[in-house]
Amino acid sequence: MMNILGIESSCDETSVAIISNNELTANLISSQDFHTKYGGVVPELSSRAHLQIVLPLVKDALAKSNLALKDLDVICSTAGPGLIGALLVGLTFAKGLAYSIKKPFIPVNHIEGHIFSGFLMEEKPEFPYLALVVSGGHSLLLLVESFSKITKLGTTVDDAAGEAFDKVAKMLGLGYPGGPKIQKAAANGNEEKIKFPVAELKDPYNFSFSGLKTSVLRYVQKNYGESKNIPEHDLNDIAASFQYAVVKALIKNAEKALDNFEVKSLSLVGGVAANKALREAILNLGKKHNKKVIIPNIEFCGDNAAMIAYRGLTLFEAGLKFDLSYSPFPGLSSEHFA
Ligand code: KG4
Ligand code: ZN
Repeated sequence: MMNILGIESSCDETSVAIISNNELTANLISSQDFHTKYGGVVPELSSRAHLQIVLPLVKDALAKSNLALKDLDVICSTAGPGLIGALLVGLTFAKGLAYSIKKPFIPVNHIEGHIFSGFLMEEKPEFPYLALVVSGGHSLLLLVESFSKITKLGTTVDDAAGEAFDKVAKMLGLGYPGGPKIQKAAANGNEEKIKFPVAELKDPYNFSFSGLKTSVLRYVQKNYGESKNIPEHDLNDIAASFQYAVVKALIKNAEKALDNFEVKSLSLVGGVAANKALREAILNLGKKHNKKVIIPNIEFCGDNAAMIAYRGLTLFEAGLKFDLSYSPFPGLSSEHFA
């Protein structure tokens, strides 16, 4: 019997998960909705909210899994990248917990959590696989050969895909977080109405979304002035056309990678992987190239601790050991205070 606890607090979701005997028994996610009124995440408020909710979530996750604190074998937490104050809450809490029950602590890279999130599904990715990681902070195309060999093929040269969704939503007056709001508006719009540009970069696997964002801004300014008084019908068309361009840009590079690398499967992960149009496009791409496609359920796309616990488990099984003095933040390591 092996019980692993994961904690995620890198941004505006506090999440606690337990994997018990290779089965996910809890994945509790508390989203900080109050940031909406500020139009984006306020780091200090985020840290405070994590602090208030992390202990109750750990208690609930234990109860849901029929476990006591002493039954835990490994404690993992996200160690970065993310908002430093927010990360520190989960990380310090996890270390304290590990120290108190004398069990190993494992720091987990948030992006690696997303990369392997497909393994939370019944049908798992097969190595080597191509991973398209699309979140609020990252747009990455990766060749994943094993749990310890990941090669970066491409990245964004400016905005991340999710960031583009969030910025365009703000531009259109749809609010934060933008992804789900754009998706909703796009569902009633015509994606062929406006031809927004898809960037052509020198590097075949890199992405760029900043030109697309600017072109949406210009379109809005030209047609509706600064008033942002966009009729709903037009707004839906803009959202649909923008979403179409993002999906096209992502699929274009993924297809190039499929043409040039021998992979067994294709996995779409990260917050933007919740997008319906993108999910459909990736499924079609997989079908066209005869590849198994793994897209996690929505609860594993956005930030969640299940993926952190899972990644922690693979590191633990690989024999990795970490000291409680571990700190991903230069200058905050205990060595500096010695
Ligand atoms: O992975 P995630 O929860 O946090 C980061 O690690 O960044 O990703 C959050 C991002 C946000 O930019 C949000 O707008 C986007 O994922 N997102 C979506 C959708 N749901 C969330 N983007 C497009 N369509 C969606 N349905
Ligand atoms: Zn994330």
